[in-house]
Amino acid sequence: MVWSKRFGKELLKPVKEYTYSSSFDNFLFLYDIRCVTNHCKLLCNLGIIEEKDYIRILRFLDSYKSLPYNINKQEDIHLFVESLIINHLGVIGNTIRTARSRNDLTNTDLKLWFKEKIRSLSYKILHFLKFLLYKSLDNFNVPFPCFTHSQIAQPSTFGHYLLAYYEMLKRNLRKITFFESLHSACPLGSCASVGTRFHINRKILSHLLHFSNACNNSLDGVSDRDYIVDYLFVCSNVMMHLSRLSEDIIIYCSTPIGIIDLSDSICTGSSLMPQKKNPDLFELIRSNACMVHGFLNTFINIINKQSTTYNKDMQNDKVLSTSCCTLVTNTMSVIIRSINEIFVNTRQSNFLISSHYSLATDLAEALTIHGVAYKESHNIVSDIIRYLSYNKIPLHKVDTHTITNINVLYSLIFDRLDLAKYIDTKSSIYSKNNLGNTSPIRVIYQVYYAIRYLQCFPI
Ligand code: ARG
Repeated sequence: MVWSKRFGKELLKPVKEYTYSSSFDNFLFLYDIRCVTNHCKLLCNLGIIEEKDYIRILRFLDSYKSLPYNINKQEDIHLFVESLIINHLGVIGNTIRTARSRNDLTNTDLKLWFKEKIRSLSYKILHFLKFLLYKSLDNFNVPFPCFTHSQIAQPSTFGHYLLAYYEMLKRNLRKITFFESLHSACPLGSCASVGTRFHINRKILSHLLHFSNACNNSLDGVSDRDYIVDYLFVCSNVMMHLSRLSEDIIIYCSTPIGIIDLSDSICTGSSLMPQKKNPDLFELIRSNACMVHGFLNTFINIINKQSTTYNKDMQNDKVLSTSCCTLVTNTMSVIIRSINEIFVNTRQSNFLISSHYSLATDLAEALTIHGVAYKESHNIVSDIIRYLSYNKIPLHKVDTHTITNINVLYSLIFDRLDLAKYIDTKSSIYSKNNLGNTSPIRVIYQVYYAIRYLQCFPI
């Protein structure tokens, strides 16, 4: 054991098992090799390692990269890599620990791993955004009810609906880009906490490891886990959006609503009820989002309670990071594959739009166009809707005769307008033609600009 000379007794087996991280930190193997070899290069520059020994270490670790390995006997991945060098190359392995500690090494390994994971998450989001845009274009004029408070509100299009998710995930992508520049400092060389008397050139070391600079403060260098907090936050934000999308799909494809059809290839059945077709996939995404939010909450709590610099509590950063990364990567992959298996049931969609007075606002706006203040228009149309719903008359069946029956004064106003034009779903949808509105023309514009935006996106 690396520090056993300090103690008079062997570590108890259960304590060993409880404190070792080798069962979950082996994913850092290649990153640890990168850090160790580059650090050795600087030790070589200082004359602490001879050039020939440095080359032997380099060649050995390089050849070992692709071999199977079992680190379980070692305390962690860092001591495993050190033991490999000592076992294969002998005493030169005893020098590699000069001017660095596992405290800065573990943070640097993990930060390097995150740089890659962040990149692959960006690509996945970018991929999904493109799918959303093409699907929006396919559905640019497909009528789809918009809900507020889970009640049918106004007619929209499925294309417009999907573009809302494009915007949400685009914000996530932009956040990630910022993340990359914010967390670009290399902790290696901070050593255990205060640095070292050996003149390690930290700037060169950080460039060798493809960081943009060395961290400014060595205490912060071993303490800092903000990049994990930010990663967990971005993942939580992505999963929150995917969970809301899933929640919508679950509701929209539910038996009583039925405005969305899911292809058989993304549904699951029941072992008992032969007729069932369940949206299990989306229910699981909803649940996995909660798990990811839990990771963020847990990790903030772990860091929150620690005094400055390194504490063993931090070791669990690896468990949380890998669990979160696996869950989010799998979720992104499955949603990308599934988005094209979701279809609008246009018959049901049109039925819900026309049978729930979703054009009432259009009618009120029509009155305002013809000179009635909106508050008054709202009152008049509310009065009309109350009558219609009581008598079970749908809005598209209303004519001036019905209006006269409700209130003869109303008919004086309604006589002045082309009623049919305002109680038509298509004309309602096309009339919302301001920036970001639901009109199919706007949807096409938005998709067009979004495609150009993504083409220039800096990743
Ligand atoms: N396995 C440890 C971790 O993952 C590495 C750092 C250990 N440092 C120490 N002083 N015990 O956090």
